[in-house]
Amino acid sequence: MCGIVGYVGHSAGRVNTGHNALDVVLEGLRRLEYRGYDSAGIAVVADGTISSRKKSGKLSNLIAELEASPLPDSLTGIGHTRWATHGGPTDLNAHPHLADEGKLAVIHNGIIENFAELKLELVRKGVDFKSETDTEVAAALLGDIYRNQVHGSSKGDLTKAMQLACQRLEGAFTLLAIHADQPDVVVAARRNSPLVVGLGDGENFLGSDVSGFIDYTRRAVELGQDQIVTITADTVEITDFYGAPAEGKEYHVDWDPASAEKGGFPSFMEKEIHDQPDAVLQTLLGRSDVNGRLTLDELRVDPELLKHVDKIIVLACGTSAYAGQVAKYAIEHWCRIPTEVELSHEFRYRDPIVDENTLIVSISQSGETMDTLMAVRYAKEQGAKTVSICNTNGSTIPRESDAVLYTHAGPEIAVASTKAFLAQITAAYLLGLYLAQLRGNKFQGEIKDILADLNKIPAKIQRILDNEAQIKELGQSMADAKSVLFLGRHVGFPVAMEGALKLKELAYIHAEGFAAGELKHGPIALIEEGQPVFVVVPSPRGRDSLHAKVVSNIQEVRARGAKTIVIAEEGDEAVKAYAEHVFYIPETPTLLAPLLSTVPLQIFALALASAKGYDVDQPRNLAKSVTVE
Ligand code: G6P
Repeated sequence: MCGIVGYVGHSAGRVNTGHNALDVVLEGLRRLEYRGYDSAGIAVVADGTISSRKKSGKLSNLIAELEASPLPDSLTGIGHTRWATHGGPTDLNAHPHLADEGKLAVIHNGIIENFAELKLELVRKGVDFKSETDTEVAAALLGDIYRNQVHGSSKGDLTKAMQLACQRLEGAFTLLAIHADQPDVVVAARRNSPLVVGLGDGENFLGSDVSGFIDYTRRAVELGQDQIVTITADTVEITDFYGAPAEGKEYHVDWDPASAEKGGFPSFMEKEIHDQPDAVLQTLLGRSDVNGRLTLDELRVDPELLKHVDKIIVLACGTSAYAGQVAKYAIEHWCRIPTEVELSHEFRYRDPIVDENTLIVSISQSGETMDTLMAVRYAKEQGAKTVSICNTNGSTIPRESDAVLYTHAGPEIAVASTKAFLAQITAAYLLGLYLAQLRGNKFQGEIKDILADLNKIPAKIQRILDNEAQIKELGQSMADAKSVLFLGRHVGFPVAMEGALKLKELAYIHAEGFAAGELKHGPIALIEEGQPVFVVVPSPRGRDSLHAKVVSNIQEVRARGAKTIVIAEEGDEAVKAYAEHVFYIPETPTLLAPLLSTVPLQIFALALASAKGYDVDQPRNLAKSVTVE
């Protein structure tokens, strides 16, 4: 939610690196635009003054503005791409916000919860606010503090002013500030919102995540909670909000800028759908030995504690929550541990029953989703052990958890999640198998067999992708659909909900996923002539006559006029008679089937939304990383 970039280039006397702050910041914003695209803005310090441009709408609007009205060359700059919270997506509400008579520029990600009382105080002091944002209040506060430091010959100190301002701010914020009187410094603060430092040679960077500076350096520094960082071209100094020095943790970013590009596909989303065989493969790689023994080295929770876990609660939001729902079926089946899946924001505010024998498994692509972060913190306070399944190295949720199992899907840029979803399911399966191994619920041979089946998944996803034309055509032909329903049972149920979510996110049409068994208890009333209904059919080789039950459900909706589109396993001839379209996926054990059955639904949503002419990478109103509650 909101992308933030900061840059300070070489100081006097050093070899010129050739980087103009404007270029570095714009490139960072281009890579971070997935975090919000309601407006964009940039400010630089040059010739003892701040110059800034900002524009509502996508980054391309700002770029056009900069072409019409260029900014001066500079070595110090900040930039912002916004997902609106306080105040609509207008030019005036766009960041940066200026204060101290235009000498200070501030950008912000998060929500300042006590902005109203601070605003009142500042209005009484004579501040004239121009926007409706909480950010302008933070800027004015910082400007006020800075100005009060200046007496006679004593100059202002932006770092000190930021410390004092942060002591007064409540809520969630990453703030970046530049001041005309300190032209070679960017000062940043973070509480509950993401910020990483990039270390260059004679230049340093700040970003909401590493993609903000990945073109320039792979050396990154994690910041802790409630910290302030001051960067110059040659130095990075970290303190807490009270000025006490603090240490950051340096790490190497192991993906390259090319993996965050479209790779010849028309959209990031299409590329990421095609990345899925590799996302699953990379997530499986190196996690077991030749005997099929899981070696999850990074899972640093005491095995004895894991043996005593008597309840698992999976916490997540959006697509990640559907990955959690899939995981529940597998974990309960393999480990016999009662497993609940709950939306993080519902869990956090309902007085849940959690104790030291509860294992919290949070799932988050970004590792920054505020709802999930708050839920994890709450569970920790209650004594629970916390494991994070996450795709973003060094992000806040894994850092604050007792252990992390990283998904290795690579950077996911499209706002609607695809490859991260399959990687999350894969990681959750590994966690389930690891617990089963540890607690002796499964023989080693059984675990080895399941791992062997998992290892066959990447090639099977590739086969689906190789045959995507048929589902693409269907998606394109249904561009006028007003509503699409999705049905599934067992692990097919969360897949149905994910299929519906993809369509809502990308094509802005009514779409709902139902448990097929629930159909007769209400949703069947929605069926009328021509209503498209996707049905995710379980393997006919599976247990408990699940297949027969779902085939009956297809007949029930078809009898009432539905146009049925079926996802079934290769060789399942029984469904043909009741389906207008059948898409076959390769054979696989029932529990692993979501890794395959999701893929045609993603392709369908992508094709339908593209046929409508929508931007599939940046759907309206959404943001990839939701860092507000
Ligand atoms: C946002 C995104 C979704 C994502 C959800 C959870 O709503 O638009 O695609 O599933 O956040 O994000 P996380 O990073 O925690 O997986």
